Amino acid sequence: MSLDVEKIRKDFPILKIKIDGKPLIYLDSAATSQKPKKVINAISKYYKTYNANIHRGVYQIAEKATFEYEKSKKKVASFINADSIEEIVYTRNTTESINLVARTWAEQNIGKGDRILITEMEHHSNIVPWIDLVKRKGAILDYIKLNQNHDELDGNSVKEQMEKRPKLVAITHASNVLGTIVDVKSMAKTAHENGARILIDGAQSVPHMPVDVREIDADFYAFSGHKMLGPTGIGVLYAKKELLDYMPPMFGGGDMIKTVERFSYTPNDLPWKFEAGTANIEGGIALGVAVDYLKKIGMKNVRDHEKRLTNYALEKLSSVKHVKVYGLPVNRLDERGGVVAFSIDDIHPHDVASIFDTEGVAIRAGHHCAMPLVVEVLKQPALSRMSFYIYNNEEDVDKAIAAIEKVKNTFKINKTEVLA
Ligand SMILES: Cc1ncc(COP(=O)(O)O)c(C=O)c1O
Repeated sequence: MSLDVEKIRKDFPILKIKIDGKPLIYLDSAATSQKPKKVINAISKYYKTYNANIHRGVYQIAEKATFEYEKSKKKVASFINADSIEEIVYTRNTTESINLVARTWAEQNIGKGDRILITEMEHHSNIVPWIDLVKRKGAILDYIKLNQNHDELDGNSVKEQMEKRPKLVAITHASNVLGTIVDVKSMAKTAHENGARILIDGAQSVPHMPVDVREIDADFYAFSGHKMLGPTGIGVLYAKKELLDYMPPMFGGGDMIKTVERFSYTPNDLPWKFEAGTANIEGGIALGVAVDYLKKIGMKNVRDHEKRLTNYALEKLSSVKHVKVYGLPVNRLDERGGVVAFSIDDIHPHDVASIFDTEGVAIRAGHHCAMPLVVEVLKQPALSRMSFYIYNNEEDVDKAIAAIEKVKNTFKINKTEVLA
C-alpha cells in the first residue's frame, strides 16, 4: 500500500515553516526525525494535566503518570516483538544503550585476550565504547571489512573474523552512511555458532522497517526514540532477560533498588534495575505515542515507501553529472535503506549543504559520526547525505536535484564543462 504522504505531512507542524521564504524540505531524518502533532501534544498533555513523578506517589496524577509510562514500554516491547517489558530498558539514546552493555555485560564477560568484533561501517557510538573496553581489559578489537566496492560487508572477512571466536559481535543493522542493510539474522546465527553474543545497533532500522528481535535472535538491540518520531532523550536497550538478570546495574540510586541498608542493597526487578533516578517520563510516554503512529501506518508500508523514494532518487542522480553516489546500486534496493550519501566532484559537503539551505533543503554534511568508514575506507574528508522518511515525497527529491544544479552553477562546474 502506498502512503498518503500529503495526509501524513499535515500531521507535522514543522513542515509548514519557511526557510528564507522557501518551504522546508527536510532530508535529514537519519540524524533526527520530525515529530507529529500527536507526539508533541502528548508531551504537553503530560505537563499540563498529570505531571508527577513515577513509581512512588499514590495520588491520582502520580498513578496516571506511572501507568502511561509503563504502558509505553508495553507498546515498545510489542513493536519489536520482545517477550515482555522486562526486556525493555529505557536509556537516553542508542549511544547510551550500547555503553550500558559495554559497562555492564562486557565488563563482566570480556577479559584479557578476548575479542570483540565490529565492522568498518559502524557509527562512533558502536566503536568508541569498545575501544575503551579493550583498553580497560586488555582485549582485542577486530573489524569486518567492507567489500571492494565499499558498499557491503565482505563475506570472506565475516567468515575469517567469526572463526576467531569473538566473545561479542557488535554490528549495525543499517548503515547511516551507505544505507546498507545487514542480514542480522544470519549474522546472529553465525555469531552464536561461534560462541559469541550479538549486539545490534538498530538506530537506522527500527524507525524504517519491521524489526523482530526474537526472529533475529538478537542478544542486545539498541535504538533511539528521536529517530522514530519520538522526542530526544529517550532510547531503548532490548536485551534477553537471561542476560539482564545477571548484569549489574550501571548506575545506583533511586528507583533501581528494592531495599537499601547501610552497606548493601537489593536491586529492583527488571527493567527498573537499569533505570536509576527520575526517568524521562514525558519522553517515554511520547515514545509510546510515536510507536502507535508508526504502527498505524504499518512498518512494511514505511519500508516500501522509502524504497520507492530511494529508487527515484538513485535513478535521478544517475543522470546528474559530477555526482558520485555511495552505497549499493539501484538493483539492490532490498538491501538498501532510505539514505543516499553523495559527493559533487571535490566541492566540500559543508559548501554543498549551505547552498542546499539557501533553497530550504536540509541535508547532512560531514563524516556522519563514522570516520573509520568515511575517512579511512571511502577516503573522503566528508560526504553529503539525504535521508528519507514517511513525510518525504518525489517533489522533495526533485528540489534536492535542483539544489545540486545550483551548487554546480555556483562553483562553475557546468561552465567548465561547456568550455572543455
Ligand atoms: C547507525 C547509528 N548508530 C547510532 C547512532 C547514535 O544515535 P544517538 O545519537 O541517538 O545515540 C546513530 C545516529 O545517527 C546512527 O545512525
